[in-house]
Amino acid sequence: MRLVKPTATMLLVAIVFGAAGLAVSSFFKTDRATDAGGIRLPTLSAQGSAGKVAFETNCVACHGINASGTKLGPSFVNPIYNPGHHGDSAFWHAVLQGVRQHHWHFGDMPKLPLVTDAQIKDIVRYVRELQVANGIVAQPQ
Ligand code: HEC
Repeated sequence: MRLVKPTATMLLVAIVFGAAGLAVSSFFKTDRATDAGGIRLPTLSAQGSAGKVAFETNCVACHGINASGTKLGPSFVNPIYNPGHHGDSAFWHAVLQGVRQHHWHFGDMPKLPLVTDAQIKDIVRYVRELQVANGIVAQPQ
């Protein structure tokens, strides 16, 4: 058997296919990761990651893991919470003032005075990144 000496063209082809393979696998890793409930999990920005931590400390008990909702509160991965219907200020309002039951039957949301402005900002970013990954974008009211 004659060993084939790699030519420049063969090397180039190998590199191009290798790069394409990596691109495809990272695409599937980032955009196709879903949780058990089918919520798509984006690769979070640094601020989104900080928001996830703050969310999991302060909001997860009612709004659920990956904002998927619980018996105590709604999911934010729901078109109702698109930025055109619930702008970012709704998050400040909810945390600072609490929320009277109006969209659902979970009861009221209490105000959460221990959550800081910086945390709210990060949480909003986290929720928006989750929403975008799940096709929820601003819709006119
Ligand atoms: C004790 C349970 C509970 C906790 C903890 C909680 N929420 Fe809520 N939240 C609710 C409920 C219940 C509603 C739905 C009220 C309705 O629309 O009927 C709600 C609604 C909201 C809304 C929508 C408000 C609107 O204008 O309709 C936002 C935004 C929100 N929560 C943000 C947060 C954030 C951010 C945190 C954490 C910092 C948090 N919530 C923690 C129970 C909770």
